[in-house]
Amino acid sequence: MEPTTPDEDGINFRTRKWVRPEDLNANGTLFGGSLLRWIDEEAAIYAILQLGNGKVVTKYISEINFVSSAQQGDLVEMGLRATRFGRTSLTMRAEVRNMITRQSILTIEKIVFVNLDADGQPLAHGYSTITYDRDRIPSSMTTA
Ligand SMILES: CC(C)(COP(=O)(O)OP(=O)(O)OC[C@H]1O[C@@H](n2cnc3c(N)ncnc32)[C@H](O)[C@@H]1OP(=O)(O)O)[C@@H](O)C(=O)NCCC(=O)NCCS
Repeated sequence: MEPTTPDEDGINFRTRKWVRPEDLNANGTLFGGSLLRWIDEEAAIYAILQLGNGKVVTKYISEINFVSSAQQGDLVEMGLRATRFGRTSLTMRAEVRNMITRQSILTIEKIVFVNLDADGQPLAHGYSTITYDRDRIPSSMTTA
């Protein structure tokens, strides 16, 4: 992931995807399931980096608004922004847009991840602000 300048909503658009034939629906446009898989993975990585813990899970995804479509060969970019740090949770807002036209493809107002302990129980993470750095990368993920 490379850092980018946040848009007017404060969202950082980091990951880009190239819409391939296996990502298409019966209408020949981008399949919603592929988009959701991309977003869930992006949100997991974001939560790991914000909460400093590799053991985070998706708890809740709010209404998904498929604003417009994308075609095979299109370049799309995904963005996330933390909107609330709870005690054990992190809430994010997501947007996927066409990289060239910047037209919105999908928005999700609320994606909630929960920080877990070794037994899979909710664990207080202790953070309340967004980091734009890599200072919270879990030590278990770095080599000595
Ligand atoms: C994640 C899990 C351990 C949480 O257990 P739980 O009993 O709901 O735990 P809690 O009630 O203590 O809630 C934990 C946090 O989630 C939040 N939360 C719970 N339900 C929520 C909901 N419906 N919407 C938004 N946030 C919710 C709580 O507010 C709390 O956040 P906070 O500590 O920041 O206030 C449990 O629900 C679980 O294992 N779910 C399956 C997760 C999973 O496998 N996801 C992958 C997709 S299949």
